[in-house]
Amino acid sequence: LHRQADGVETMLDAREKAPGAATRDMYLDPGGNPIARASVAGPLAAGIPGEPAAFDYLARRFGKLALKESLRPAIRLAREGFPLYPRLQAAIRYKRELLLRSPDAAKVFLTAEGGVPELGVMIKQPDLALTLEAMAVQGAKGFYGGRVAQDLVNGVRAEGGIWTLEDLASYRVIERKPLVGNYHGARIVSASPPSSGGVALLDALNILAGFDLQQVDSGTRKHLIVEAMRRAYRDRAVYLGDPDFVAMPLALLTGQDYAAGQRSSIRLDKAMPSDLLPGIETGPLGPHTTHFSILDAGGNRVAGTLSVNLYFGTGEIVPKTGVLLNNTMDDFSIKPGTPNVFGLVGNDENAIAPNKRPLSSMTPTFVETPRGLMIFGTPGGSYIISMALLGTLDYLNGMSAAEIVKDPRYHHQYLPDVIEYEKGALSPNEISRLEAMNHKLEEGSRPWGNMQVITWDFATGKVEAAADPRGEGEGLIY
Ligand code: DON
Repeated sequence: LHRQADGVETMLDAREKAPGAATRDMYLDPGGNPIARASVAGPLAAGIPGEPAAFDYLARRFGKLALKESLRPAIRLAREGFPLYPRLQAAIRYKRELLLRSPDAAKVFLTAEGGVPELGVMIKQPDLALTLEAMAVQGAKGFYGGRVAQDLVNGVRAEGGIWTLEDLASYRVIERKPLVGNYHGARIVSASPPSSGGVALLDALNILAGFDLQQVDSGTRKHLIVEAMRRAYRDRAVYLGDPDFVAMPLALLTGQDYAAGQRSSIRLDKAMPSDLLPGIETGPLGPHTTHFSILDAGGNRVAGTLSVNLYFGTGEIVPKTGVLLNNTMDDFSIKPGTPNVFGLVGNDENAIAPNKRPLSSMTPTFVETPRGLMIFGTPGGSYIISMALLGTLDYLNGMSAAEIVKDPRYHHQYLPDVIEYEKGALSPNEISRLEAMNHKLEEGSRPWGNMQVITWDFATGKVEAAADPRGEGEGLIY
């Protein structure tokens, strides 16, 4: 958040936290091997939610509207429903089996026969309306205490989960300082841990700052950007976790000396295999996350990313609450070197511990130059950070909001050691240049991301808003 009147900038960390009864090896069998899908499906995969606490905190400390007011449209949509639209229908089709396992989720998202509803059918969530109403009246207590909390705990435990009333009652939003960096005179304000997004973004930008990207051919430019991604994602895997649990060398990782060291291992003519970077030994994209970019007439701004992790989270709606359980526990590293659904690996820093927050990739960001401002972010799991990097570079190269959200993407996340690219992101010439440098390349089976961008040109006062053509959403100025 940025408050224009006094320049206050802050980050609301309303990340899910591990339940108090969570343990480091809870997703491993007695032999120490990962139990398939344990951290993504079933009630053990759900972290203690943070968003309800954030909505209350946001309204009380920063909002112009009381929570009661700002929840009103959501309550109406939950009660009266909204017409099923193509993208949600596709998601329901994709996750039908999962939704069938939860009678309450099936009631909301499937037909009485368990089928996929037709377009235009009203999706109603009456129980969720009641839960939101409890929050409208009591604030965060309406969710974390009283009837709703009891129903949440009963519902989760009935399915074998480990939530307690104390886990909910003790949930707190934590205000943290956003990370601030500088790239060729642009001021970058982004997410601090427990997201890895801002650290990795600044890490990559600092590496790139030492190259003249405009002077090299486009194949080399993309090679350098990929090498920066590789190193930033490696640092994410090796060093990062919840700041309340682990000490992290953040100043070092986001500093110029470190970037100079990183640069010294980059060759202009050759990919560096990820295996050669000291790091973690090992072994597709799943939504669902939402990003909002907001700028008001007073210059106040919000870059907000919200996530239940995968489409429909665990797929389970807790009876009587309308609350869909997230599967954010999969954002922990369930075992050093074991990749999560996004293929991300981690270390002890991101191991599970009671009440700890799992490392995120969410990267809500402001980029500010003397000429203008960009507010942006996107869903996309591990791809979020590389999208944030490309989006920042696009903006600084003079692209408009509409061009930035459309620009084809490429991605490297250290492990697996491969450049994944969208159709059209790399020209045939760039592909052969990169292959000649020993990069492994793979065209993604489908496009990724749902980036939401606002730009504001200070000289002309012009504001542009654009939503990613790959996803849903809309840029609105009113
Ligand atoms: O916090 C994270 O990094 C993940 N839970 C984000 C997941 C996500 O973006 C899925 N959407 N496409």
